[in-house]
Amino acid sequence: MFRLDGKVALITGSTRGLGRAMAEAMIAQGAHVVINGRSDDAVLAVAAELDLDGRSASGVAFDVADLSAGDAAIDTIVGRHGAIDILVNNAGINRRAAVEDFGDDEWRDVLAVNLDAPFALSRSAGRHMTAAGRGRIINTASIMGTVARPTIPAYVTSKAGLVGMTKALAVEMAPHGLTVNAIGPGYVATEMNTALVQDPEFNSMVVDSTPVGRWGTPQEIAAAAVFLASDEASYVNGQTLLVDGGMTTAL
Ligand SMILES: NC(=O)c1ccc[n+]([C@@H]2O[C@H](COP(=O)([O-])OP(=O)(O)OC[C@H]3O[C@@H](n4cnc5c(N)ncnc54)[C@H](OP(=O)(O)O)[C@@H]3O)[C@@H](O)[C@H]2O)c1
Repeated sequence: MFRLDGKVALITGSTRGLGRAMAEAMIAQGAHVVINGRSDDAVLAVAAELDLDGRSASGVAFDVADLSAGDAAIDTIVGRHGAIDILVNNAGINRRAAVEDFGDDEWRDVLAVNLDAPFALSRSAGRHMTAAGRGRIINTASIMGTVARPTIPAYVTSKAGLVGMTKALAVEMAPHGLTVNAIGPGYVATEMNTALVQDPEFNSMVVDSTPVGRWGTPQEIAAAAVFLASDEASYVNGQTLLVDGGMTTAL
């Protein structure tokens, strides 16, 4: 079960963090993964590191906020591999400020990367998937698409939008053989979160309010991505799978 042999996957934002863990997990299940990030050097380095057999990984660097670059990248991938079977809209950014100080540019940057790009890439990849009669779109949302914390209004709005977009695409694309789902990670101990893990107050907040009593690992998020990408998830559509140790279930 959960094999991805012969599948071609684009995972945006896969040079590190959750995206990289998803890439490793999908490669382990037999997929060819196209690594993405903004830097050519980082993309090529990670693709080379993961491509142990010469056919498991390649790279396409582009900024997902540049929607025409995203369209071109999808065409390049289909040109090279003949198909795109799995799209993971994973690249995401956050900006922090109190609502009254939150700048227009920061608001637009977050919405552009976290919401505009997933829509445009899904539209572009969706055309090829629809023509092929099969495909999987997986959006990395967040528990912040369901609940909220102060000082991250654009992030919360973008992730709630992504949860809604997941449903909108799921109902429209399923008749063409696609499924569209999202993953809502809780607090995951990625490199980016090292400072938070080491901050005693923040660490206690996470540990004490998570029923399983710890941060998540990137591999636990990657496992959900593999499941949603697999044939075994063929009847799962329009869902946001919260992988949060029960945090949003507890009061
Ligand atoms: N970590 C968590 O606890 C957590 C919890 C809930 C949800 N999430 C979500 O999970 C996703 C991944 O988070 P992460 O923690 O793994 O993030 P991360 O460690 O900061 O990695 C982000 C990745 O996205 C790429 N990226 C950033 N902006 C990009 C852009 N404009 N175009 C293309 N690539 C871009 C980065 O590469 P470059 O910088 O080289 O471009 C990097 O590969 C995000 O959507 C985030 O909101 C994370």
